[in-house]
Amino acid sequence: MHFDHVGERLLKQMKLIALVGSLRRESVNRRLALTMKERYRGKFELEIADIGSLPYYDQDVEDNPPSSVLALKDKISNADGVLIVTPEYNWSVPGVLKNALDWLSRGDRVLIGKPVLTAGASPGMYGTLRGQLHLREILTSPGIQAVTLPPAGNEIAIAQASQKFGEGEIGLVDERTLNHMDVVVDRFLGLIGKH
Ligand SMILES: Cc1cc2nc3c(=O)[nH]c(=O)nc-3n(C[C@H](O)[C@H](O)[C@H](O)COP(=O)(O)O)c2cc1C
Repeated sequence: MHFDHVGERLLKQMKLIALVGSLRRESVNRRLALTMKERYRGKFELEIADIGSLPYYDQDVEDNPPSSVLALKDKISNADGVLIVTPEYNWSVPGVLKNALDWLSRGDRVLIGKPVLTAGASPGMYGTLRGQLHLREILTSPGIQAVTLPPAGNEIAIAQASQKFGEGEIGLVDERTLNHMDVVVDRFLGLIGKH
C-alpha cells in the first residue's frame, strides 16, 4: 500500500501490477503498459513486474519457490489489481505469461478474487482478441479465479498497432483508442472499489 498526505487527509493511492507478455525491447505491448502507467498516474501507481526472470514452473520446488516467484506473489498480494498486457502468440498467450500464471496459481494462489484487466495490441487485424479470449478462460481456472469485467464493451484489443502508436519509444497516440481505454479503465477501477 502507498499513502500520500494531502493536507490533513490521508489518501490511499491505488497500486496495480502489470504483467507484460512480451520480453522484446521494442514491444508494442510494453509500450501500451507504459502508456497506461503514464496516462493514469493520477489514478493509480503501476509497476511493471519482471516475469522474464522467473524460472520455468517446476512442481518439485513449488513448496519452496525461488525468490523471484515469492517476490512476484508478494507484489500481487499487496496490489489492488493486476493488468495483463499481452501479445497473442499462436492464438493464445505467450509461454512467458503462462509460466508466470502457472506459478501464481499454486501455493497461496494470490490471484483468487483479484481484479484483473486484460489488454493487448497486435500489428494484425484482430488486436489479440483470440489470445485474450484464451487468457480469460485461463483466468477462470480453479487456481486463478480472477475477477474480470464482462468482455462485452470492455475489451482493450488494439489492431493495426503501427497506425496507433508513435514512432520509437512513444506509446499509444490514437485518440479514439485512448478514449475507449479511459472508459474501460474507469470501469475496472469501479470493479476494484467493490472488492
Ligand atoms: C511466436 C509468435 C506467434 C505469433 N502469433 C500471433 C497470433 O496468433 N496472432 C497475431 O495476431 N499475431 C501473432 N504474432 C505476431 C505478434 O502479434 C507481433 O509480433 C506483435 O508485435 C508481438 O507483440 P510485441 O510487439 O508486444 O512483442 C506472433 C508472433 C510470434 C513471435
